[in-house]
Amino acid sequence: MPSQLLASLFPANENAIPGEYRIDPIHQREYLLNGEMRPWAGRVSEVYSPVCLPDSDGTLQRQLVGSFPVTGPAEALEALDAAVAAYDNGRGEWPQMSVAGRIQCMETFVGKMLEQRKLSINLIMWEIGKNLADATKEFDRTVKYIYDTIDTLKNMDRTSSRFRIEEGIIGQIRRSPLGVVLAMGPFNYPLNETYTTLIPAILMGNTILFKTPKHGSLLHYPMLEAFRTSFPKGVVNSLYGRGADVVPPVMQSGKVNVLTLIGSSRVADELQRHHPKLNRLRSIMSLDAKNTAIILPDADLDVAVKECLLGSLSFNGQRCTAIKIIWAHRSIVDEFLRRFAPEVSKLKAGMPWDAGTQITPLPEPAKTQYLADIIADAEAGGASVVNEGGGDVAASLFRPAVVFPVREGMRLYREEQFGPIVPVVPYDDEEEFIQYLITDDHGMQASIFGTDTDAIARLIDPLVNLVSRVNINAQCQRGPDTFPFTGRKDSAEGTLSVEDALRSFSIRSAVATKDTSENKAILNEIVSEHKSEFLSTNFIF
Ligand code: G3H
Repeated sequence: MPSQLLASLFPANENAIPGEYRIDPIHQREYLLNGEMRPWAGRVSEVYSPVCLPDSDGTLQRQLVGSFPVTGPAEALEALDAAVAAYDNGRGEWPQMSVAGRIQCMETFVGKMLEQRKLSINLIMWEIGKNLADATKEFDRTVKYIYDTIDTLKNMDRTSSRFRIEEGIIGQIRRSPLGVVLAMGPFNYPLNETYTTLIPAILMGNTILFKTPKHGSLLHYPMLEAFRTSFPKGVVNSLYGRGADVVPPVMQSGKVNVLTLIGSSRVADELQRHHPKLNRLRSIMSLDAKNTAIILPDADLDVAVKECLLGSLSFNGQRCTAIKIIWAHRSIVDEFLRRFAPEVSKLKAGMPWDAGTQITPLPEPAKTQYLADIIADAEAGGASVVNEGGGDVAASLFRPAVVFPVREGMRLYREEQFGPIVPVVPYDDEEEFIQYLITDDHGMQASIFGTDTDAIARLIDPLVNLVSRVNINAQCQRGPDTFPFTGRKDSAEGTLSVEDALRSFSIRSAVATKDTSENKAILNEIVSEHKSEFLSTNFIF
């Protein structure tokens, strides 16, 4: 339902935007390729913010934030050549550089990245509508992730700086790079999730092509100069333009060794299929999810309400880890909804910079229509919106809706809504919930709310084999970043975490010899005279 009240939350004019968050449109006319900022005079894509202002007729219009190059297949293949040349079959400056040297470059990069903090946070708010607190957290969490990654790499390198002697064989085992990595991030965490793959991939000695997301692209622009001046040429190359135009030729070349994507399983399948030798391609991906919460009859409903609220509606439900469907036992479902629905309606809607705002404008232009359609579909099947104002819409603002009772056959039952709708399903027997998970295409996370340890334990054991993280009396989430972030079925391929990512973007290589005095003398001379970067007992302090 269109809402006047919601419409009034948009700024009436530019002066109604606090000065420190106003933005002059940024028109990017260059991109990073082979250590140069290449000028671009071709086609551009305009970036419109989900933040709207009324035009002279009073119609709310998305505001222009800037524009960026729409490069094509020729530029993409040039970027690929640059990354291939910089890797040079593992003989390039970067893959040959010592771990300590690579860490030093990365530290230089973080210093330069920090200089862009204010602008990045502002662009996160303008481009994707994330509120100030979460945009700030996204930037700071990313910086912490980089420092944690550096520390973890130092530890890994320390462990591999010694020789092993087993069964008459002396060996040294280290992690080596894989080659050219194509990295593609999502719009909902455009900085954090892009960097949680990009940074470990770079640190492990790979060379990179990175494609910015459709929404949340401009915020990468200020970082390009930092990449350019922190790493040897060709190590980091940017890809702009339509994914469907620039990515297939890159994949078809067969020169991409690692595909890392945070996005949909449909796109992942398509991209992988373009590679002529799939056995040579490693994929590290976080994909679709329909995370579930189950509320047992004896659950502490205050805890369940608080965690489900956070879990389903932080950043308008646009998190891969969001709780996207709640199963509540029939004996408590009414009471749960009686407490949960008003809390959802109370969530403060507004502009990203407004203090305490939880519900913000949605970046995808067609999203509010999609959300209205899936609610209408559920209503046609007999469900209704049970919270006041749920589903109200004004331009890009959408009031979160709690939809009940949702059941098989409704789109909300299986589709990943990735937005501010919370479907609630009543159940009688836990087996119904387990059967849902078995028959679902997703397998990322689940939350169990309850107090009876027998009932909780009865669910934990099957659930850990159906999803990759089971949360007890807590929302689903990725953090802490040292925990494994992965999924089953269509939800992920490979595992991310500070340490897992370093492993994912590298392979173990060994140098080995028979334990004879001649061979020991050879090893000793190479090591003591520092003749090799790989075969070395150097210890990073
Ligand atoms: O969109 C997926 C994010 O990795 C989720 O991270 O659980 O910390 O919000 P989060």
